[in-house]
Amino acid sequence: MSEMQQMKVEIGSHEERYSRDAFSREDGHDDRLFYEKDRFVAHLDSEALATVEDIIGQLIVEDHPVVLDLMASWDSHIPRHIRPARLVGLGLNANELAANEDLDETVIHDLNDNPELPFDDETFDVVINTVSVDYLVHPFKVFREVGRILKPGGLHLVFFSNRMFPQKAVKIWREATEMERVALVQEFFSAAGCFDALQVFVSSGKVRPSDDKYGHTGMPSDPVYVVYAEKTGSGESSAKRPAIKLAGDQPPLTEEEMRARLETIRETLECPHCGSRMKKWAVPESVFSTWDTEFKYICFNDRCPYVTRGWQVMARQGNQGMSYRLLYDPERNNTIPIPIFDLYMLRESIIGE
Ligand SMILES: C[S@@+](CC[C@H](N)C(=O)[O-])C[C@H]1O[C@@H](n2cnc3c(N)ncnc32)[C@H](O)[C@@H]1O
Repeated sequence: MSEMQQMKVEIGSHEERYSRDAFSREDGHDDRLFYEKDRFVAHLDSEALATVEDIIGQLIVEDHPVVLDLMASWDSHIPRHIRPARLVGLGLNANELAANEDLDETVIHDLNDNPELPFDDETFDVVINTVSVDYLVHPFKVFREVGRILKPGGLHLVFFSNRMFPQKAVKIWREATEMERVALVQEFFSAAGCFDALQVFVSSGKVRPSDDKYGHTGMPSDPVYVVYAEKTGSGESSAKRPAIKLAGDQPPLTEEEMRARLETIRETLECPHCGSRMKKWAVPESVFSTWDTEFKYICFNDRCPYVTRGWQVMARQGNQGMSYRLLYDPERNNTIPIPIFDLYMLRESIIGE
């Protein structure tokens, strides 16, 4: 049997669906070389990291769980109210792991060299992988291994965003859209054959903290995607974990509520989505030369749900990196979306409240 044939037998049918280079990287050198440099950095902005922590805090319902932080560094993002019986961090950089005060135990292990996890069957209640799944060269094997080391009913949480070390991310991840990445991670779970009730949650469009290193760009906070599932076989229903609910998230208005707000918009000049007073906005002649009025009104509340949800809506339509604000035309007494690439766009033409 050739080496290739052997590999196919070993890796099974799910991996075979992908082209041979799907899980190759630009930098295919030993990962230990890349990660020997200490990186005491935040891989997402602080708003997004607070969301990660919040979600971990909501989904871990075990009293004193045994937790594995897979592909760990100096921060495991575990909120204070969670008191693990044991928290193990597995990663590649010894100094970063040593600086992680939450860890009870650290393990240096290269998952791309050896995807087998150095733990006994059914050891952990929770396995968390934060912003690192994109670096796995053997993701199908690693997810099967996570299934092996989780206790029945144990939780595997996989967080990711749209930032990465591109030279170390696998090709299929780099080339995929954010929605395709969700589907890919879902497939890693499904292919493992031992997870139940696969769930996806997305938080996007929040406001990026102004002191963030990319704060000047006007881009929203880094999106947070989490795909998660429990290992089968606990006999319990997965209802033991609550649905994720983030502070500030409001349910969309009903059609009736929206109609009532639109009926009074001419008098109130309040955005029907968030209630903020819209700002008077001069129509820039060069760009919108076909518009016949000199000014309109636009909602400039960056936390308006119309804007925050807009990033995802546009992404689903293939317009990644765009959202829109609500524009009110007083002549026609109607509203339309006006596209934006960042939160600073259109502000230069504000002429009053
Ligand atoms: C983007 S950082 C994320 C670190 C941490 N999970 C966090 O949330 O800040 C990627 C991490 O994956 C780990 N990692 C990368 N390649 C790995 C590999 N082949 N085996 C094990 N860990 C790896 C590195 O040690 C690095 O800390």
